[in-house]
Amino acid sequence: MDWGLSNRLARIIKPDTGRSVMLAVDHGYFLGPTSGLEDPATTIEPLLPYADSLMLTRGVLRTSVPTNFDIPIVLRVSGGTSIVGKDLSNEGITTSLKEAIRLNVSAVALSIFVGSDHEKETLLGLSELVNQSIEYGIPVLAVTAVGREMTRDARYLSLCCRIAAELGAHIVKTYYCDDFEKVVESCPVPIVIAGGKKITEKDALKLAHDAVSHGAVGVDMGRNIFQSDNPVGMIQAVRAIVHKGSSVEDAYGLYQKA
Ligand code: 5RP
Repeated sequence: MDWGLSNRLARIIKPDTGRSVMLAVDHGYFLGPTSGLEDPATTIEPLLPYADSLMLTRGVLRTSVPTNFDIPIVLRVSGGTSIVGKDLSNEGITTSLKEAIRLNVSAVALSIFVGSDHEKETLLGLSELVNQSIEYGIPVLAVTAVGREMTRDARYLSLCCRIAAELGAHIVKTYYCDDFEKVVESCPVPIVIAGGKKITEKDALKLAHDAVSHGAVGVDMGRNIFQSDNPVGMIQAVRAIVHKGSSVEDAYGLYQKA
C-alpha cells in the first residue's frame, strides 16, 4: 500500500487504538434537511472535537465545516436519488475525484445496492471509483445500503461486505446484526457500522459496544448522535466505548453527565 493511502487510512482508523469514530452527516444528499441536520454548521461544530472523521457531501463541507479545523474528511461522492424519488438504489457518482482532491479529503465514499435493480451499476461504480482513487492514494469506503426488500442478516450483509472488499473498497460500512462476527470474518477489510434510525441512547451505545466487541473497527454514526437530546454527551460516550473499551453502563453515565 502506498504511503499516501496508508497515511489517509491512519487518519480515519486511528493507529493507537485501531478504531474509528466517524460522524456521519451526509444524510441530506437524499433526505434533504433531515431532523437534526436542518442547520449543518450548528450541528457539526460542537461535535468536531470528538469525531475522528466526518462523512459528508461537498456541499456541506464547503458551507458548514471550518477550513482551519483538522478533521479528516470522508467525502460522499454518490447520489442522484431522493426520498421522494422512485428508487433509492439508482445512485451514480456525483462528485469527481479532482474535486475530492481539491477538498483535501482523506477518503471517498459511495453506496452499493446489492440485490437491487441497480446492483450492477453501483458495483461497477465502486470498481471505477477504486480504479481512479488509488491513482491518488485515496481510500474508498463502500456503504452497503440495504433495500427495503432486503433483510439485514449476517448472510446478506456478509455478501455485501465481501463483494465490496473484492471490488477494492478499503473500508466497508454496514449494519450490526446477529452473528456479526461472521460478517467480519468473511470481509478482508475493516468494517464500521452505521447507527441506523434513532433508537434510545442506551440502545445505540449497546449497538456500538456489540459491534466493536464482535470485530468492527468502529462506527460511522449519524442520527443516533445528532438527533440525541445531548449530541456531545452521546459522541463522548461512543468514543469511550470505541477507543477506551468502556462498558455500556459507564459510557451511558458519560452521556448523562455531559
Ligand atoms: C446515510 C448514510 C449515513 O452515512 C449512514 O447511514 C450512517 O448514518 P446513521 O448512523 O444515521 O445511519 O449513509 O445515507
